[in-house]
Amino acid sequence: MHHQWLLLAACFWVIFMFMVASKFITLTFKDPDVYGAKQEFPFLTTIPELEKWREEKHLPKELKPTGKVLSGNHLNQPLVHMERLELLKNVCQDAALRNLSHTTVSKFVLDRIFVCDKHKILFCQTPKVGNTQWKKVLIVLNGVFSSIEEIPENVVHDHEKNGLPRLSSFSDSEIQKRLKLYFKFFIVRDPFERLISAFKDKFVHNPRFEPWYRHEIAPGIIRKYRRNRTETRGLQFEDFVRYLGDPNHRWLDLQFGDHIIHWVTYVELCAPCEISYSVIGHHETLEEDAPYILKEAGIDHLVSYPTIPPGITVYNKTKVEHYFLGVSKRDIRRLYARFEGDFKLFGYQKPDFLLN
Ligand SMILES: *[C@@H]1O[C@H](CO)[C@@H](O)[C@H](O)[C@H]1NC(C)=O
Ligand SMILES: *[C@@H]1O[C@H](CO)[C@@H](O)[C@H](O)[C@H]1NC(C)=O
Ligand SMILES: *[C@@H]1O[C@H](CO)[C@@H](O)[C@H](O)[C@H]1NC(C)=O
Repeated sequence: MHHQWLLLAACFWVIFMFMVASKFITLTFKDPDVYGAKQEFPFLTTIPELEKWREEKHLPKELKPTGKVLSGNHLNQPLVHMERLELLKNVCQDAALRNLSHTTVSKFVLDRIFVCDKHKILFCQTPKVGNTQWKKVLIVLNGVFSSIEEIPENVVHDHEKNGLPRLSSFSDSEIQKRLKLYFKFFIVRDPFERLISAFKDKFVHNPRFEPWYRHEIAPGIIRKYRRNRTETRGLQFEDFVRYLGDPNHRWLDLQFGDHIIHWVTYVELCAPCEISYSVIGHHETLEEDAPYILKEAGIDHLVSYPTIPPGITVYNKTKVEHYFLGVSKRDIRRLYARFEGDFKLFGYQKPDFLLN
């Protein structure tokens, strides 16, 4: 008799766990540049759906809704992030870099920042570091959709419908309140590798659903910056670098509208010296940084993460050298002169192998 009651209680517990587990969400991570077009790997993993859990209910050891076990690296995480913020603070105060590290918190910046009111999180979007996946997490956490799979692709970037408002949609006092009180984060990667990634993604692979890169932006850059008039190929990395390094680039930027978010500096996107971010993740250490961000944001019990395949986010010097091979030293130095703020603020090494 006693055993039957125990069994019944155990059954209720298992059912309860299934219901809890069904609330968890899934994520996949995509970076066509590093991982080959279309290839995806799970990044913040999804705890399987209710049905799958039911099938597995006779295997109680599967019930643990956690990702991988914490590794020793995590013990040093707070220190690493404190040092990053300390470096940022110091570089922000460097008068010689003032023009490269400071910007006004304009509507352009407020447009980049997404708001999760439910969990008091602000996320500044920096393309090419898995941002769509972070946005999906926040959309689910905000509650308009109950799982990542339910969000239609076309709604991820439609902020009227996805319940993930931009900070710019609030009144001044509401903006100030959120900037002061919320957990704020964004992700960066090596500035030159990021530009290569943007170039490949927007001008080489050139997604069909984004025709403006090939038909408007590339011709605009070629008209102004191509030296070799007999060259008829599409936009070359060399042209792109010359445009980015031109101190008068703003003239073209204005015509390109918000598409410039793929190549303007992190300073211009997120105003890291004006807004006191809680955590700045690095793409190169995403395996440690992603779980740290989830934990610090207080959402690690809602979202889990699996192992990121080793080496996949590592900085590739060979690739950087290859892309800059045909670019003149003068143009590379001008490019560095514009992105020096990003290199120094986030602790990326000056690429002397390209500059000298
Ligand atoms: C910063 O920009 C201002 C205005 O464009 C300019 O006058 C000043 O010389 C610049 N400072 C440095 C250190 O480049
Ligand atoms: C200009 O481009 C053409 C066509 O690609 C090429 O054959 C030629 O060598 C280039 N000239 C220079 C000076 O790079
Ligand atoms: C680095 O990039 C080069 C050229 O794109 C590629 O052949 C190589 O496999 C990459 N190395 C790593 C470790 O990913």
